[in-house]
Amino acid sequence: MGRLYVFDHPLIQHKLTMIRDKDTTSKDFRELVDEVAMLMAYEVTRDMQLREVEIETPITTTKSKVLAGRMIGVVPIMRAGLGMVNGFLRLVPAAKVGHIGLYRDPETLKPVEYYCKLPVDAQERDLIVVDPMLATGGSASAAIEFIKQRGCKSIKLVNLIAAPEGIERVRADHPDVDIFVAAVDEKLNDHSYIVPGLGDAGDRLFGTK
Ligand code: PRP
Ligand code: URA
Repeated sequence: MGRLYVFDHPLIQHKLTMIRDKDTTSKDFRELVDEVAMLMAYEVTRDMQLREVEIETPITTTKSKVLAGRMIGVVPIMRAGLGMVNGFLRLVPAAKVGHIGLYRDPETLKPVEYYCKLPVDAQERDLIVVDPMLATGGSASAAIEFIKQRGCKSIKLVNLIAAPEGIERVRADHPDVDIFVAAVDEKLNDHSYIVPGLGDAGDRLFGTK
């Protein structure tokens, strides 16, 4: 069973409250999502491998650590996942970015793929799928499935807000994937929106409503 990490850091919780507020403008919403993504990235990357190297400081020779092992790929689920990419890249600038285009069909509520482009060496990277919302889990589960079909094995999922239903769905479909969230909300409403949630993340990020 994949592990679930809920980040209760005060800065993340404070910023998430502002993100949820319906009166927060698109500009502030974008900036806050970016900041929270960066704070989450710090913890999500905690297990990156290190190796020891010898360097010279202005004072002496010493042993010190640098990143080693598998590189990272950040994979936003479009559109809303795009809002979290920069936060990750600010901490891990060498990461490559893959894109998965999915939308939730408003009638069937099922995810439809319209785009997928991953880094050429995606199979050798630790992939971090990002999307602000994990509602039914249909989009995330499908995105992870598409990535696995392309031969990728090491995958994490990072969301700002998750519904219990979405967490259960991803854990059932992909027990090998760890999930990192800033909050687990109460439930889904009749339209499969997260309650209390933040509304439509894509529309709020890009001002399309
Ligand atoms: C939203 C959100 C997730 C998905 C979550 O995207 O960003 O991708 O819904 O819902 P689910 O867990 O029930 O699948 P949406 O389909 O609205 O597309 P958008 O990002 O283009 O607005
Ligand atoms: N997608 C969103 O943007 N918000 C929700 O609450 C559910 C799905």
